[in-house]
Amino acid sequence: MGEAGEGQDTDGESHERRQPKEMICMAGTKTDVNQEIGQFPESLKLGQPKNSYIDKVIAVMSGKGGVGKSSVAALLASELARRGFAVGVLDADITGPSIPKLFGLRGDPIVVGSQLLPETSKTSIRVMSLNLLLEDEEDPVIWRGPLIAGTVRQFWTDVLWGELDYMIVDLPPGTGDVPLTVFQSLPIDGVVIVSTPQKLSEMVVTKAVNMLRLMEVPVIGLVENMAWVECPQCGTKIEPFGPSRADEIARSMGIGLLGSLPLDPAVSSLGDKGLIEDYRHDGIKVIVDNILDYLSERQEK
Ligand SMILES: Nc1ncnc2c1ncn2[C@@H]1O[C@H](COP(=O)(O)OP(=O)(O)O)[C@@H](O)[C@H]1O
Ligand SMILES: [Mg+2]
Repeated sequence: MGEAGEGQDTDGESHERRQPKEMICMAGTKTDVNQEIGQFPESLKLGQPKNSYIDKVIAVMSGKGGVGKSSVAALLASELARRGFAVGVLDADITGPSIPKLFGLRGDPIVVGSQLLPETSKTSIRVMSLNLLLEDEEDPVIWRGPLIAGTVRQFWTDVLWGELDYMIVDLPPGTGDVPLTVFQSLPIDGVVIVSTPQKLSEMVVTKAVNMLRLMEVPVIGLVENMAWVECPQCGTKIEPFGPSRADEIARSMGIGLLGSLPLDPAVSSLGDKGLIEDYRHDGIKVIVDNILDYLSERQEK
């Protein structure tokens, strides 16, 4: 641990700058990659994070990568923030363009006591991600699943989130170690599953739903992303994969369809510029309305 910062201090990094990396070291260093890891108690649900209170936790999941899960997670957080809620995003998906990038955030989280302060976006969304702690975001993360899963647990306990109405957890695609650990350890109020029309009927989506059932994690519903394209000239709705079958497929899996979003070049261009919060679409409002309805109905039960 003591060596974590030494020898790297050539650019006059502050003490605060070094500490986050030491926090990762607490979860394990790259040298741990070959060790067998199974040190996380299976049934240990974490309580509220230190000095923080998080009211509702929503995880965003997909069967496969590239369906727009992280973008949808960021858009949901943005819409909730627009409605005046205090929102956090815990980025547990380090495989793709990262959540910090979508919000235009760069590293350097400050340490307060023994906790890390999340970065704050321009609409006050609090973000924590492994990518914020890496020296260079382009660095490949070669840690094995269980190690990353441990870090994600630390992102819950050791980050000074403060008071949040909603925490959005962006999960890696699939049903691997990280989703497993998140469902075992975080108090998840519900999961939003994201898919695209052509991936919808694939086994991976059913697998995700089955995992949630098995673990008794509530499924809020399905978001169909990239469902249609709008002609920029005449506004005609083009459905490259034919009329949507999302409702029918969701129903066959016993879950609800929360809504659909178009394939819109503005999503990727704003995301690339770190301005995802500027994207507006009525489809997102509908999805958020449905999520909030689900959560309040569940609370009443
Ligand atoms: N509705 C959309 N319209 C256009 N591009 C999108 C849309 N949703 C996502 N994308 C783009 O697709 C790519 C994958 O999205 P991302 O959110 O990283 O997916 P995932 O997290 O599922 O891997 C990104 O380049 C993103 O900008
Ligand atoms: Mg992603």
